[in-house]
Amino acid sequence: MKVTERILAIETSCDETSAAVIQNGTEILSNVVSSQIESHKRFGGVVPEIASRHHVEQITFIVEQALQEAKVTMDDISAVAVTEGPGLVGALLIGVNAAKSIAFSHNLPLIGVHHIAGHIYANRLIQELTFPLLALVVSGGHTELVYMKEHGSFEIIGETRDDAVGEAYDKVARTLGLPYPGGPHIDKLAAEGEVSIDFPRAWLEPDSFDFSFSGLKSAVINTLHNYKQRGEDVLIENIAASFQASVIDVLVEKTKRAAEQYQVKQLVLAGGVAANRGLRAELEKQFSNREVELLIPPLHLCTDNAAMIGAAASIKYQKQQYSDYDLNGNPGLDLEQQ
Ligand code: KG4
Ligand code: ZN
Repeated sequence: MKVTERILAIETSCDETSAAVIQNGTEILSNVVSSQIESHKRFGGVVPEIASRHHVEQITFIVEQALQEAKVTMDDISAVAVTEGPGLVGALLIGVNAAKSIAFSHNLPLIGVHHIAGHIYANRLIQELTFPLLALVVSGGHTELVYMKEHGSFEIIGETRDDAVGEAYDKVARTLGLPYPGGPHIDKLAAEGEVSIDFPRAWLEPDSFDFSFSGLKSAVINTLHNYKQRGEDVLIENIAASFQASVIDVLVEKTKRAAEQYQVKQLVLAGGVAANRGLRAELEKQFSNREVELLIPPLHLCTDNAAMIGAAASIKYQKQQYSDYDLNGNPGLDLEQQ
């Protein structure tokens, strides 16, 4: 008889309070996400204290709702998983403490999950992963190329040396006077504009898979100031399109090279910036005739959610890699040590 595994997963690393029930690692029985974006918008970014307060207010309701929507009770749950890090420490702590108390009171295994492992495993909710694979992780806090030779094994072969790509989007958006988070707004404007400015591309050393976006960000901000000083008008659609073209060029070119060098079977896209329509389209174009299979999660699984945490936790559950009750929120958690 096949034993059904159901994981209750919790994610509170930044500004989304989320709980999900994942069955056998791949089936989403529920995935409830409560976003706090409206509360942070007027500050132009996430305010850590406000994030923690929202998580405290929401977490119990969100967990209850996730169980209800999944049509299960705690008796049907096999383990409790939670994002352990990286993220905002106060925000992480709310999820970690909720998970600990639920696991303890129901005598269930507790599983700490790395947030980026979660973003990568969002792909397993749409299709089985095939190894070796390469993950392009692009979020508000991370820009990484991760090589995986098997389930649960993560090797970072390239990463940003300064700003994460989402961070660059948000900072450029702020300069353009767009609301937070700016990524989706730039994406939309870019589709309406033309690539009229040749912004720099940081290729770094020829064999490097690392990224750098702070020079590009400064170039965009300087260009805008120069236009203003000369009293000239510039179409912000064209600025957005030119900025986005530079970002996508570097991301896609380095990913293509890494996929070839590491002879991977799959390329999976992960993280909030995976929602970017320009990036998705260019990857689809570049990988359409290739041996490498491209996986791109649907939009609601690209941004922070607990379903992806449950999917990553399932691998640890199978290996009985449980956490102790001294589990803590860890803002600097290392992906390779997972
Ligand atoms: O993964 P995520 O939800 O949170 C982190 O773990 O960081 O990513 C959020 C980031 C934000 O910087 C947001 O501006 C960016 O993802 N983002 C986008 C798009 N949608 C979200 N960036 C570019 N284009 C988009 N369509
Ligand atoms: Zn994230």
